[in-house]
Amino acid sequence: MLKFAQKRYEMNRKLYMVSLGPGDIELLTLRACRAFRECNAICVPTKSEDNSFDKSISHKIVTEALEFLGIKREIIPVYSPMVFDENDWHNEADIVIGSSHKYSKVCFVTLGDAGVYSSIYYLLDIIKQKDKELYEQSEVIAGVTSFSASSAMVKKALCLGDESLIIRPINPREEVRNTEILMRPKIGMQTKALGEGDFYTFENIYLPEQKISPFKIDKVKKYMTLFINFAQR
Ligand SMILES: C[S@@+](CC[C@H](N)C(=O)[O-])C[C@H]1O[C@@H](n2cnc3c(N)ncnc32)[C@H](O)[C@@H]1O
Repeated sequence: MLKFAQKRYEMNRKLYMVSLGPGDIELLTLRACRAFRECNAICVPTKSEDNSFDKSISHKIVTEALEFLGIKREIIPVYSPMVFDENDWHNEADIVIGSSHKYSKVCFVTLGDAGVYSSIYYLLDIIKQKDKELYEQSEVIAGVTSFSASSAMVKKALCLGDESLIIRPINPREEVRNTEILMRPKIGMQTKALGEGDFYTFENIYLPEQKISPFKIDKVKKYMTLFINFAQR
């Protein structure tokens, strides 16, 4: 490739971190499908050391999605032994970064929703250190969690009325820290009583007048407001 064209190709790099939902292609979002259309290659984690996808649920969903969309994309295996070893995340991040140089627009996929016990945020932290440009060109695509799909399957609400919802790791490796999601505020209420921490305020997301503030607003102006007090990491 000519030097100039190569540079433009590099400058147009994009990384989509795509949530696949819990296993059924019908629970894949339109946004995930758009990312598959827009990319040139899809990085798919595999627990198999030989990089085969025999046991990979993610690979099954991606294959079905590409068939559904009637498109072909390069599939890059990413060996992910899932043993919580930082070296593995570095290797995975290197494959993603390398793929972005080769294919310009790439996806990395994860099961369920990326925000719930997924390695993608470890990878993004490493990518931020090693390749800030790619980090800034990255987008996380939300998905259906295993527990929202499970609740729907048995027609039982996860929380109703004044109930709250707790998600706990069954085998924690260290002290459990909590992320708190605070919903259903009253318009005009003061937020002092919600406490302190790593707060974000989300108002009207994906709606007109969307606003995301990396702090807790003092007074609620809209009903469509939620707060996340992220676990201190
Ligand atoms: C590493 S976590 C990933 C969670 C995922 N990101 C989500 O949003 O549901 C893996 C755990 O999620 C749950 N899980 C994920 N997919 C599931 C499925 N299809 N059926 C039942 N449990 C599932 C299981 O508890 C599993 O051990």
